[in-house]
Amino acid sequence: MDFFDKVNQAGTVPVVVIDSAECAVPTAQALIRGGISFMEITLRTSCALEAIRLVKENVPEMTVGAGTVISEEQAQAAVAAGASFIVSPGFFPEVVDHCIKSNVPVIPGCVTPTEIISAINKGIKIVKFFPADVYGGIKTIKELSGVFRDIKFLPTGGINASNMAEYISEPSIIAVGGSWVCPSKMIAAHDYDGIELKAKEATDIIKTLKENAA
Ligand code: 3PG
Repeated sequence: MDFFDKVNQAGTVPVVVIDSAECAVPTAQALIRGGISFMEITLRTSCALEAIRLVKENVPEMTVGAGTVISEEQAQAAVAAGASFIVSPGFFPEVVDHCIKSNVPVIPGCVTPTEIISAINKGIKIVKFFPADVYGGIKTIKELSGVFRDIKFLPTGGINASNMAEYISEPSIIAVGGSWVCPSKMIAAHDYDGIELKAKEATDIIKTLKENAA
């Protein structure tokens, strides 16, 4: 299965902030138990690269990527740590070029037509749409997808269990992302059962939507 299909199948991409490396593996295992095998560990904390390495080595069922990648050096370090894909909150050509050169899937953040055109011209198929709620949510994505018909969106920012179905029902949205599945507070409290439940809730929503669409 290629990367595009994997994201499509995942439906939900948890945006995970790990403050302590020891939490990385149990968090990934909780997501797996809840039916989610795709996660983005953000490079917002000093232990993020270590967290990616630990998940890659210890939870083979998980496809782990790096998020909040804002420089070529970070992209390089994340791939070296084991990241299978790179997500950036914005469109930064050096990050995108590095990933293309290294043959690593990259999802750059694009919210304007100009940014989307930049992504298309690099051969990108999926863009992150962040912060989705602030930039007009589904309404904006629908307008953009009318013009950029081959681009799929991964919206994040303000998405949760109560509005994810609405987002996912839009055909140009390949999956939704966010921190609600795996909140930092739950990770810090080692509430892995709680994370499993949140993951299961998201998994069930995706499953129901797919069944209804079939
Ligand atoms: C991201 O990096 O995509 C956002 O931090 C996710 O936003 P959320 O916390 O509102 O889900």
